[in-house]
Amino acid sequence: MEAAQRGPAGSSAAANPGEAQALLGRLEGEQASRRLESGLAEFDRVLGSGIVPGSVSLLGGDPGIGKSTLLLQVAASVAGSAPVLYATGEESTQQVRARARRLGLEAPALQIVPESDLTRILATAEQQRVAMLVIDSIQTVFSPEVPSSAGGVAQLRECAAALVRHAKRTGTAVCIIGHVTREGSIAGPKVLEHLVDTVLYFESDAGSRFRIVRATKNRFGAVNELAFFAMTEGGLREVANPSAIFLARPAEVAPGSVVTVMREGGRPLLVEIQGLVDAMRFGNPRRVAQGFDSTRLAMLLAVLNRHGGLSLQDHDVFANVVGGLSLGETAGDLPVLLALASSLRDRALPATLVAFAEIGLTGELRPVPYGEERLREAAKQGFRQAIVAEANVPRRPIEGLAVFGAPTLAAALQRAFSG
Ligand code: TYD
Ligand code: MG
Repeated sequence: MEAAQRGPAGSSAAANPGEAQALLGRLEGEQASRRLESGLAEFDRVLGSGIVPGSVSLLGGDPGIGKSTLLLQVAASVAGSAPVLYATGEESTQQVRARARRLGLEAPALQIVPESDLTRILATAEQQRVAMLVIDSIQTVFSPEVPSSAGGVAQLRECAAALVRHAKRTGTAVCIIGHVTREGSIAGPKVLEHLVDTVLYFESDAGSRFRIVRATKNRFGAVNELAFFAMTEGGLREVANPSAIFLARPAEVAPGSVVTVMREGGRPLLVEIQGLVDAMRFGNPRRVAQGFDSTRLAMLLAVLNRHGGLSLQDHDVFANVVGGLSLGETAGDLPVLLALASSLRDRALPATLVAFAEIGLTGELRPVPYGEERLREAAKQGFRQAIVAEANVPRRPIEGLAVFGAPTLAAALQRAFSG
């Protein structure tokens, strides 16, 4: 599959030209859509099913989060079927080799070049007719044509532009690593986003071994796809069942905690929502939302007051989505209010309860998309009770899960605290 799929620039002279012609003829139409497999299904999925030849991807993230590890694993895997060049200005060949050995990677067809001069990197890539080129990192390469030093914005832009030209001309898939700098947008991956086809960011919660790779731009797939990994001794491992990786609640659940099922990257994800209600000490009451829109929190508090019979006007209110995640959907309305009510009453909700629903201004519960999928995932993760909007109650019961469809916030509150 290797040379042929890269098109004319990469096709090697075959011993039997007739045979090569036939093969190319068959592949020609598919050429553009033929993708390289990274060896990591999660990574392929976040890209939109594999690496597109001729595409340029940018992988951004904090130093030390695992960018080199991930792309070395990917490069080694692709090198199993096509030549790959890994250019590093960060480490020596020995260091990269040592890492590859530690990761248990066997890739004789993976070429490593410790080089910062982009002209030379591109010459090597072209000479070796590689299917994939990794640049680790864009901050360490420079183009001799630009007078400023490596890492500056002018260099960054020129190097990225040269890589894009190279990718388009030769059909090479280029993956660029970019460190997110402390200055943020100044000389970091942000300034390159518009130049490349795909932008991926590595995310992690401080201290957690879990890593998420999120596609924030993708010309060849869906944005906001997520790939879940765990950093282990042997490198990054895919997390096969990521829906509960952010759930780490003690067996005894404290007041103010509720689990909800959000959807991230097209999949259900169980997350804990915490609420804290505290008597206001002075001045105006504080409303602090982490991972949640604070305007929406204010609106929900008004609904809780008018339709749930719980006034928090003399209280400071804090709501937090655990794990550093963001609730970008209204399904979190109900669990946020349940968590706050639980904190106010100082009564813990059952550990096996999940809840999700949008709340309207008249106190009604509204269904959210993919209700059944969310409930099935909750059941799979051992949850036993669910409170949702009536229209989200599945027609056929879900084994092991008692689903309560509440018409209103008041009904949901009553049910939650009835145990
Ligand atoms: P690295 O890929 O070098 O990060 P980046 O390129 O984003 O700067 O990963 C660095 C961290 O990952 C390092 O602190 C050690 C850890 N690590 C593991 O835990 N297991 C491994 O197998 C490898 C290679 C690294
Ligand atoms: Mg690195």
